[in-house]
Amino acid sequence: MKIGNTEIGKVALAPLAGITDMAFRRICRSFGAGYAETEMVSAKALSFNDKKSFELMELSEDEHPCGIQLFGSEPNVISNAAVLAKNEGADVIDVNMGCPAPKIAGNGSGSALMKNPKLCGEIVAAIKSKVDLPVTVKIRKGFDSENVNAAEVAKICEQNGADAIIVHGRTRQQYYSGKCDLDIIKTVKSAVSVPVIGNGDVKDIKSAQKMLEYTGCDAVMVARAALGNPWIFRTLKEYFDKGIIINPPSHEDKLKIMREHIELVCSYKGERLGMLQSRKQIAWYLKGFNGAAKFRNEAGTVSTLDDMYSLIDRVLCYQAENK
Ligand SMILES: Cc1cc2nc3c(=O)[nH]c(=O)nc-3n(C[C@H](O)[C@H](O)[C@H](O)COP(=O)(O)O)c2cc1C
Repeated sequence: MKIGNTEIGKVALAPLAGITDMAFRRICRSFGAGYAETEMVSAKALSFNDKKSFELMELSEDEHPCGIQLFGSEPNVISNAAVLAKNEGADVIDVNMGCPAPKIAGNGSGSALMKNPKLCGEIVAAIKSKVDLPVTVKIRKGFDSENVNAAEVAKICEQNGADAIIVHGRTRQQYYSGKCDLDIIKTVKSAVSVPVIGNGDVKDIKSAQKMLEYTGCDAVMVARAALGNPWIFRTLKEYFDKGIIINPPSHEDKLKIMREHIELVCSYKGERLGMLQSRKQIAWYLKGFNGAAKFRNEAGTVSTLDDMYSLIDRVLCYQAENK
């Protein structure tokens, strides 16, 4: 599966604000995610030289291909931001046309763009005129149940040069609840000739296979199911590449992966900020362990790597005692 000339494989990590930082992207890539994206970056903030927004675009050398996702609503501002993203090493520019959050959609960006398909096309055309990189758009089913227009938006984006379409099968109104609508992904796939990446509720082999087979989409993007579970990419890759169903990692291995992940976060962000930002990640990793509720609460208080190492020891002891 290619976006433009960029090979991305069949299973990608979706952008997740506050989560898909360099450490998490690298961990997911090491488990076989063929492609990942930064979280959404404000084109407007980049135009004001905002340091934090530039930091969000930093990519490590070993994580290509990687897309940088931009949000905004002004073709000129977002296309200038695309030039900056290219300078940071982006392999693909993705435009967020799906974010439901009021502070984004309320400003006419994210999912609000779907109310104005013509503007969606203008944004894609503006980016294509300024950077020679593949451009994708990440859209939803529509803004709400009365305005289901993913196929229309996808077509306009394609006509204006989009190299692939990513569709999340929920409306903005639904946020992240309700079921992902596979039919809308199928409709988008038959409406355009560029590749389509399906997104929504892919959480295991069965749901990934159903998404691919039922909708005919070219690849799938996994978001929430990767939280505390980056080995999902190995499970899916082994299955789609070789037809092999592998066992999930043991408790010990899961904690080892968590440890490596959080150490990587701290190596990038420093221990203080790294540990603060990692509390939710640690809680996700501990899902499904014996005593998870108690240990996940404790995860909310870790402040140093030593706190985490001690938590890991206690979790392992508890597993051994409560087999
Ligand atoms: C906490 C959170 C943050 C998200 N941040 C982004 C984002 O920055 N850009 C984006 O396009 N989608 C974002 N999404 C949407 C996901 O990429 C994805 O489309 C959605 O979660 C559906 O996929 P899933 O059912 O596999 O979780 C976010 C979702 C969540 C839950």
